[in-house]
Amino acid sequence: MNILVLGSGGREHAISLKISQSPKTSKLFVAPGNAGTSQIATNIEVGVNDFEAIKALVLKESIDLVVVGPEDPLVNGVHDFFLNDAELKSVPVIGPEKAAAELEGSKEFAKEFMMRHNIPTAAYQSFTSETLEEGYSFLETLKPPYVLKADGLAAGKGVLILQDLQEAKDGLKSMLLDSKFGDASATVVIEEFLDGIELSCFVLTDGTNYKILPTAKDYKRIGEGDTGLNTGGMGAISPVPFADSVFMEKIERQIVKPTVDGLKTDNLPYVGFIFIGLIKVGDEPKVIEYNVRMGDPETEVVIPRLKSDLVEVLLAMANGTLDQVDLQIDERAATTVMAVSGGYPEAYEKGKEISGTEKIKDSIVFHAGTKLSNEKVVTNGGRVIAITSFGKDFKEALQKSYQNMEKLHFDGMYYRKDLGFDL
Ligand code: AMP
Ligand code: GLY
Repeated sequence: MNILVLGSGGREHAISLKISQSPKTSKLFVAPGNAGTSQIATNIEVGVNDFEAIKALVLKESIDLVVVGPEDPLVNGVHDFFLNDAELKSVPVIGPEKAAAELEGSKEFAKEFMMRHNIPTAAYQSFTSETLEEGYSFLETLKPPYVLKADGLAAGKGVLILQDLQEAKDGLKSMLLDSKFGDASATVVIEEFLDGIELSCFVLTDGTNYKILPTAKDYKRIGEGDTGLNTGGMGAISPVPFADSVFMEKIERQIVKPTVDGLKTDNLPYVGFIFIGLIKVGDEPKVIEYNVRMGDPETEVVIPRLKSDLVEVLLAMANGTLDQVDLQIDERAATTVMAVSGGYPEAYEKGKEISGTEKIKDSIVFHAGTKLSNEKVVTNGGRVIAITSFGKDFKEALQKSYQNMEKLHFDGMYYRKDLGFDL
């Protein structure tokens, strides 16, 4: 089969590598891809939201299956675009339709979905500029810290967690009246603060059946000890040691099953990945957020642990036969460490030459923000390269990732050296 992967990050490199290893794959294309995907697939200079260009590519290369990496095209309706086009409608797309992608596209929609289906999550209320005063009154009923969330997509930056009531009121005002996060904060969800440890659960669904992939935990802050600004993710480990079978059974019964059943009940067609951001409060799992895609860098530890043929799994999702799939998972732990550009997540430079990847042994190098320039691999984003390793436990795996990180070089390169410190 000919397969197209949309996206250009470490997640898409990891998905593409696994797809490239399937005997079912004839030709693999990645749009737009990065320097890493160009080694295992054909990169095509087409943006993930350029649906007409994607259509032309699918027809020209006789694509049989499309896998959508990031949330943006899903929230913009790429799946619906295929279904509504006579020439594309027979090409399966892995990723939910627009209506279901609102689980990530709108926090308010996600909260209402959870309430409707009795899925445990933080108590909340939502407000707009017209109900600012009610928002202030609601804040007064809560204890600090105060959690304010822009309703819409804000590139992972739309959440404020504030200690002081006045700061929280000011934050609410700037989100609602001064468009602090643009249109994304025209509606704001104010939530009860949940105190606990976070983890991510990844689910595959064909709309009826589901399979749970290995859990993972990512490290979002730029600084060691989980300090400083939020990033897309500085590394990840899988499995999560505290997610034992008792806890996983709760997650499945209280969250995963009601989510998949709820999508069906609400007539929200969903063929794709569900990324459930969870927090363990005491012994109970609660949902922090839904994403309608895989996590990045969590994919760089979850997908390498999948021993089953990914293409067969994706086809079962598209065909509604996921119940017939027996997912084979590598028992070993996997870790990934992300090398980022100096200055990230604030301003940083691009175009720095990357060296040393050829010296890396016994780990997998996943490219994130890289590109080929005059036959050299150069930096092209904040998160640049993830080094994934296996071990009998996450400590052994991390040691390998860190040893190999020392062989990698580009100007301004930075990575966190304390992953797993909290476990
Ligand atoms: P989100 O974009 O919803 O994932 O939120 C970003 C981050 O804010 C999460 O990864 C959590 O660390 C934190 N967060 C979000 N909601 C809450 C909450 N209700 N209580 C505590 N922390 C939260
Ligand atoms: N690593 C978190 C995310 O992909 O949203």
